[in-house]
Amino acid sequence: MSKNPFDRDGNQPLYRQLAEWLGKLISEGTYETDSRLPSIRQLSEQLSVSRTTVVYAYRLLEDWGFVEARSRSGYFVQSVQDRQPRVGAAAPPSWDTTPKLFDVASASDDPTVRMIVAGANLDVLQLGVALPNPEFYPTDRLSRLLSRVVRHQPAVAARYCPSPGFEPLRVQIARRAVAAGVSISPEDVVITNGACEALFLSVRAVLGPGMRVAVASPTYYVFLEQLNQCGVIPVEIAADPQEGMNLDALREAHRRKSLDAIFLMPNIANPTGALMPDATKEQILAFAGEHGLPIIEDHVHAELAYSDARPRSLRAFDNEADVLWCGSFSKTLAPGFRIGWMVPGVHREKVAKLKATSSVASPTPQQMAIAEFLEEGGYDHHLKQLREAFRGAVETMLHLVDAYFPDQTIAHQPRGGYLLWLELPEGVDSIRLAQQALEHKIGIGPGPMFSPDGKFQNFIRLNCAVSWTARTRQSVRRLGELVEEQLRG
Ligand SMILES: Cc1ncc(COP(=O)(O)O)c(C=O)c1O
Repeated sequence: MSKNPFDRDGNQPLYRQLAEWLGKLISEGTYETDSRLPSIRQLSEQLSVSRTTVVYAYRLLEDWGFVEARSRSGYFVQSVQDRQPRVGAAAPPSWDTTPKLFDVASASDDPTVRMIVAGANLDVLQLGVALPNPEFYPTDRLSRLLSRVVRHQPAVAARYCPSPGFEPLRVQIARRAVAAGVSISPEDVVITNGACEALFLSVRAVLGPGMRVAVASPTYYVFLEQLNQCGVIPVEIAADPQEGMNLDALREAHRRKSLDAIFLMPNIANPTGALMPDATKEQILAFAGEHGLPIIEDHVHAELAYSDARPRSLRAFDNEADVLWCGSFSKTLAPGFRIGWMVPGVHREKVAKLKATSSVASPTPQQMAIAEFLEEGGYDHHLKQLREAFRGAVETMLHLVDAYFPDQTIAHQPRGGYLLWLELPEGVDSIRLAQQALEHKIGIGPGPMFSPDGKFQNFIRLNCAVSWTARTRQSVRRLGELVEEQLRG
């Protein structure tokens, strides 16, 4: 319970203050319909008030229709529909129960924050977040595995699994690396809380305040936030929506600004879905090696590439470059498990220490369940189906964009994954569009959030891995109409 909320010298009797306090907690959902409220003895002891005060408070809540007494069981919360004050009783006070955190109207002006806020609100159609609908994932199988590992090895599951992480999972990750052309041992792998933590640890391992890192333009916005928090300066490098970062632009940026590192998503970039040709990967590796620049490689969407051959990680090439390779199971299995990994190369000791001192360990049961999933087999089959499903979802979105968006709209075909990078006609303000869309309960990713310099004013990123219901289709149509309306002025 929160701190004692009573003003003992105030004008209101204590029982009324207690009733109001409990009534507010009920209205806000702390106590849900049908849940049992604390007993009279408990409340009296916890809040240092007499039992009579608690009894009176509960009676008042009954009068307001908020609770019902059940014989020998205690007091229970009434459903909202049944909350009628008793005949002749005063109406209860009204509390402002608008959820503050997800209240779109009060969200920050920052488009990033707005998108996160909108994405977290389940009421909003989540076209703005890079978060596939759970229907795309093997959630039943995972939950069975999760309960199995916890049942069979409760002591292991309940323990910390200190850095570098659960060994059987690291073994599986090392085996899977082969598909990306990489040869590593389980000792090279550090398990993290999602790829987000892997990226953050990478930044902290190789960069510091005032240093500069090359990022593709556009790039993954959470990484930009991480750089910001560490005082690192992002330098935008022109990138092709199909092939990723431009090498000449990278060279030129280094000549002018002296870079300290490079952030790359060579295999299916966010937000564009670009896939870098192997030749460019090699050239960038050579460039980085020559200039002693570490590369932070984001592999999160790599297994979602539509090509039959698995795209090769930068680590697959025979080179001396210093690559911190980061990935996760968030986009392929279960975002909520928060299991990521990294292969930090020469920074292993530093990264393992940083991990140990920032979050000690990643959740053990989830590591165990994913290790089991991979050991049991069928992951590649699942990935194949997932890629097909995502490709189909992108196709659906493309058809609707074609039907409902202005003719000058350019949809940049992704080379994998489930995100669509849309170039809207010149003059469309995507931040304003995002605000307008939110009024229709549609979340979108406005272009400027993917650029430290606020470029891509007329671009948006759409998540296509949604449930394709009539409402979704209708919302995409509405979005197209909003774009048209902006153009008409
Ligand atoms: C490019 C990219 N990197 C990293 C992440 C973070 O992944 P995780 O959920 O595993 O932390 C995401 C999530 O959207 C992403 O799109």
